Amino acid sequence: MRKVIYPKVGGPDSIEIIEVGDLVAGPGEVRVRVHRTGINFADLMMRQGLYGSAPDFPFTPGYEAAGEVMDVGSGVEGVSSGDRVIAMTGFGGYAEQVVVTADRIVKLPDSIDFDKGAAIPVSYGTAYHMLIHLGDLRSGDTVLVHHAAGGVGSAAAQICATYGASLVIGTASRPKREFVEAMGMRFVDREREDFVEVCKQMTGGEGVHQAIDPVGGKHLMRSYRALRNGGKLHVFGASSAVPGERRSWLAAMMMWRGTPSFDPLKMMNSNKAVFGVHMGRLKDDQVFRGHLESLSGMMLKGQIDPVIDSVWRFEQVADAQRHMHDRKNRGKILLDFS
Ligand SMILES: NC(=O)c1ccc[n+]([C@@H]2O[C@H](COP(=O)([O-])OP(=O)(O)OC[C@H]3O[C@@H](n4cnc5c(N)ncnc54)[C@H](OP(=O)(O)O)[C@@H]3O)[C@@H](O)[C@H]2O)c1
Repeated sequence: MRKVIYPKVGGPDSIEIIEVGDLVAGPGEVRVRVHRTGINFADLMMRQGLYGSAPDFPFTPGYEAAGEVMDVGSGVEGVSSGDRVIAMTGFGGYAEQVVVTADRIVKLPDSIDFDKGAAIPVSYGTAYHMLIHLGDLRSGDTVLVHHAAGGVGSAAAQICATYGASLVIGTASRPKREFVEAMGMRFVDREREDFVEVCKQMTGGEGVHQAIDPVGGKHLMRSYRALRNGGKLHVFGASSAVPGERRSWLAAMMMWRGTPSFDPLKMMNSNKAVFGVHMGRLKDDQVFRGHLESLSGMMLKGQIDPVIDSVWRFEQVADAQRHMHDRKNRGKILLDFS
């Protein structure tokens, strides 16, 4: 079988595809023939050596995949060869086959295709974890979403709509205006408008109930300021450390140095909360499984419907990642391993 590897720190042109032997499902494991794998921003950071929890080089990235069960190891019950599944791969999803423990797969309903299935775990799982599980989003709430046109951003917009948010303010670059508005958000041009001002103006001076910030650095304090009394900020990324295809120590250092220290006394006085969210480091798999089951139900009811930006053959993985670096995606980018 073939798989993608990151041999060393580098740009997209450093990525290689290699042929290895077929995998074997051990006890308690399931072998999946991958049809689709999701590309996530974290994959770009790992390639640049900027992702703390990535394995040592060389390794195969890929947090999520959708495909068919090939076979199961001893002791696995309730899963059979031919079942359509979503696999939470951790790493290794950029491959024609993956092996995962049986508790890391969720069955994919027949009416949901592999594209939509692969688009769910990371983008929707993360948005759901922040806004619903931690944030307890209520009908009428107001929310600020950055990278609003991306994988997590578009998922957040749909989840907010499902739970009755009254206003979702989405920041993105100018060419994404139409898309962000079509997703039901109030578009904010992130280069030309002050999103803190817009949040205040549109909420009668109060600020929003929740903000999700994957930009990091000094941007975090601005998102914090956009909150109302009792508001919640979710810190879940550091895209400002990744300005282009190649690693920039300067950008990484600026992100790091700009990261604020939140004062607990000030937080107490304004009843604000700051959550740090890293789904890859969530210890309790059952929490994540629960999110996936809820999301699968929402998809079956038509409440959410992943927006697929593009599907690339896995041989074009470098171009697919460049597409994200170049900020061209609207929704999820997928790799086709079928
Ligand atoms: N902590 C977690 O568990 C977790 C899980 C999932 C995702 N995340 C984070 O959430 C963010 C979104 O992830 P995603 O996979 O859904 O990606 P995405 O939003 O689809 O990423 C691409 C978009 O990000 C925007 N962007 C902002 N700064 C960028 C930069 N320096 N380089 C390239 N694009 C940039 C661009 O949109 P504009 O044109 O609008 O700028 C681009 O189209 C990432 O920071 C990611 O690390 C964290």
